[in-house]
Amino acid sequence: MKAVRISGYNEPLVLEDVDIPQPGPSEVLVRVHAAALNPLDFKLQRGYMHAFFPLTFPYTIGTDYAGVVEKTGSLSSHWRVGDRVVVGSQATQGGAIAEFAIADSSNLVRLPDSISFADAAGIPVAAGTAWQALFEMANLSKGQTVLIHAGAGGVGSFAIQFARQVGARVIATASGSGLEIVRKLGADQVIDYKSQDFQGMVSDVDVVLDTIGGETQQKSYGVLRTGGSLLATSAPPDEALAKAHKVSATFVFHEPVASRLSKIVRKVEDGSAKVLVDCQQNLADFQAAFDHQASGRAKGKIILAIA
Ligand SMILES: NC(=O)c1ccc[n+]([C@@H]2O[C@H](COP(=O)([O-])OP(=O)(O)OC[C@H]3O[C@@H](n4cnc5c(N)ncnc54)[C@H](OP(=O)(O)O)[C@@H]3O)[C@@H](O)[C@H]2O)c1
Repeated sequence: MKAVRISGYNEPLVLEDVDIPQPGPSEVLVRVHAAALNPLDFKLQRGYMHAFFPLTFPYTIGTDYAGVVEKTGSLSSHWRVGDRVVVGSQATQGGAIAEFAIADSSNLVRLPDSISFADAAGIPVAAGTAWQALFEMANLSKGQTVLIHAGAGGVGSFAIQFARQVGARVIATASGSGLEIVRKLGADQVIDYKSQDFQGMVSDVDVVLDTIGGETQQKSYGVLRTGGSLLATSAPPDEALAKAHKVSATFVFHEPVASRLSKIVRKVEDGSAKVLVDCQQNLADFQAAFDHQASGRAKGKIILAIA
């Protein structure tokens, strides 16, 4: 099979011919139809995440994919050959950008016929992180206000939709074509981060979803109400600043949990959330897709069509 692998940190991505892996007793072999990239992938490749996610090489890039069950292990009787599935694998396991991938059978989520493989592949990390941050960590609820940075990004685009769904008021930052995108996703107030300073425009926010870090995060503490929550996905929060502003600040450490992914898949199935797709590329164009993800300019998910 073909797989996009690296042989070490900072080593180039190579599309290689390798043996099809065989599932262990509690595993399933999935024929991958589509995979999606995340910033996590280039951070892993560059070794930035070494302390959290030490990789074993060769490492097949990608955690998010959708496809069809090809073969089941002896203890994976819950799954049948031909089942449509979506998977968010552990960062250290990767394996998505390949024609076949091994998944732990407890990590598969059934994919309804109405959701394309391409859309499904775009769900796991981005939507899972938005959900985990807003509902499992910040307990965002009806009537509250949330500031979502990078609303046109993978995480932000899901966060806007999820927050609107529970009846929260959504303020989102974006720029260029992202401004219209976040409006259409449901943001009540849109701030052009390149020409406007959100610090002077927003106050008494209940929750900030900070997907940027740096100056954006520093300024975000001051727009929260006393007791508000900052959830950071990119850079660890500054505890001293949080204390000074009497707010809580927590780093989001996304965990791929099948029960959460399953809930989100149902939201996409019933039309209450959609997957914002930046572009879809063929497997042969993996390098351009990877570079685009690493540029930080994607508007939604970058999908690789694999079969
Ligand atoms: N800790 C975790 O478990 C976890 C999980 C998921 C993601 N993350 C991290 O969270 C971050 C976001 O992930 P993602 O998948 O959403 O990234 P992404 O899809 O690559 O985000 C790209 C978007 O960010 C926007 N952007 C860039 N700088 C901005 C700024 N200063 N203000 C507002 N928008 C800005 C870009 O808009 P323009 O093109 O208009 O600039 C672009 O639309 C990444 O650092 C990722 O590694 C962490």
